[in-house]
Amino acid sequence: MTQMPQPSYTHLGGLRDVESFRRYLAEHRIDIPCDDKLISGEASPLAQSLHAGTIKIGNRIAAQPMEGWDGTEDGRPTELTFRRWERFGASGAKLIWGGEAVAVRHDGRANPNQLVINQHSRVDLCRLRETLVAAHKQAVGSDDGLLIGLQLTHSGRYSRPNAHDRPEPKILYHHPILDGRLNIPADYPLVKDEELREIIEDFYKAAVVAAEAGFDFVDIKHCHGYLAHELLSAHTREGEFGGSFENRTRFLREVVTAIRAANASLSIAVRLSAFDTIPFRKDSSTEACGVPESTNGLLPYRWGFGVNVENPLEPDLAEPIKFLSLLHELGVPLVNISAGSPYYNPHIQRPATYPPSDGYSPPEDALVGVARQMRITRELKQQFPDLVIVGSAYSYLQEFLPYVAQAAIRDRWTDCIGLGRMLLAYPSLLLDVIGGRPLQRKSVCRTFSDCTTAPRAGLPSGCYPLDPHYRESENGTKLKAMKRR
Ligand SMILES: Cc1cc2nc3c(=O)[nH]c(=O)nc-3n(C[C@H](O)[C@H](O)[C@H](O)COP(=O)(O)O)c2cc1C
Ligand code: SF4
Repeated sequence: MTQMPQPSYTHLGGLRDVESFRRYLAEHRIDIPCDDKLISGEASPLAQSLHAGTIKIGNRIAAQPMEGWDGTEDGRPTELTFRRWERFGASGAKLIWGGEAVAVRHDGRANPNQLVINQHSRVDLCRLRETLVAAHKQAVGSDDGLLIGLQLTHSGRYSRPNAHDRPEPKILYHHPILDGRLNIPADYPLVKDEELREIIEDFYKAAVVAAEAGFDFVDIKHCHGYLAHELLSAHTREGEFGGSFENRTRFLREVVTAIRAANASLSIAVRLSAFDTIPFRKDSSTEACGVPESTNGLLPYRWGFGVNVENPLEPDLAEPIKFLSLLHELGVPLVNISAGSPYYNPHIQRPATYPPSDGYSPPEDALVGVARQMRITRELKQQFPDLVIVGSAYSYLQEFLPYVAQAAIRDRWTDCIGLGRMLLAYPSLLLDVIGGRPLQRKSVCRTFSDCTTAPRAGLPSGCYPLDPHYRESENGTKLKAMKRR
């Protein structure tokens, strides 16, 4: 068979300055707002505080949740976890969105080193939070306006609680494409409604512990293919948690009600994959470029949330808008917009130049992926001015990130700029901008994806190429050797 050439896209490193970047956006008709100058000090849009009801956030920088695959066997933090939280604190971000996904029970862990929240880990979680606050105060002088949450999760289909290479999926329905990827047979049991009720109880108990540990809010994670996100697309499931929109959101409503009854002052947040696309795979005829799975025989597509059922490659925001209306009604003030899943369409969720080991080469200019998340976040922000909205997926912008971030805040595309990978590589990027300090170009995340490749190989996550703590470690040597093979 003839090999199709892999599409190639301009690397941002090839664009000399912000002017070239703006020109590139215009020439390729990519709609991303971008300032031509950085603004420092109090005049910076990024330095503005935000007040909404009882929520007060001291600036517009948000630290996105990022797991490190480095907890103990029983789900408590290690030195590496403390180091990461310290760096999140020192980033100057005034909104800490959950630090990282923390499982509400052992069988819902995404990996055997994920943190677990329970009475046994309460003191450790409290210390993690205190470590973050201390580092934050040292970096910016005060913890005024610092809002810290904990992201609560059950990994559902992507549970691997006992070994990094042994999936133990908990599925809500049979998926015509994803079941095959995890070798799930047709008679594999679904999570029963009674088990979902137990998980609701676990979320509620976890929220109580989070409040005792001093967290300001908990995120009921609804993104990236994990349990609560899968529930939103459980159109084919029977019973109380499947089928209608009301049933598919029952889990959220019951978790919120239970938490409220236990602790009225703890704020509740939701991180949502607000749109999706069908799973992608590596295509050998295009030199490992990502291609969508075939939808032959699968239309209308009944296994997605936020997708057009007649063409699931396209987003459809009708249900995500209904979902945000529900959040508004439930008094959930904080919403973090993400997309897709790192397992089945990573280019949608985390635009990158280089794919992780289990990924595929980008099927589109990664800037198109950034623009898509920004556009959808903007549309949702316009529809829900009262919700505090955090946008995601800016790290691919590299040194142009601060120019885009400033414009996006000023033009109200989002309320806060959520930073993921950039925080692992260069935690103080936006703080340096506000402080008027020059950017440290050598520290800028280049989206090499080693922070994802490492855990796929059973190693802790971290920025192996740029953070000497990981690069020069034994695990750094192991990762290099694995990549050479
Ligand atoms: C190593 C790593 C771990 C992550 N862990 C989580 C997580 O625990 N919870 C979550 O909601 N998102 C997680 N994400 C997704 C990020 O929060 C973020 O949405 C994504 O990386 C895109 O943002 P960025 O372009 O700034 O990296 C993770 C991402 C990375 C790279
Ligand atoms: S390994 Fe470092 S440079 Fe690569 S994507 Fe992760 S944070 Fe960025």
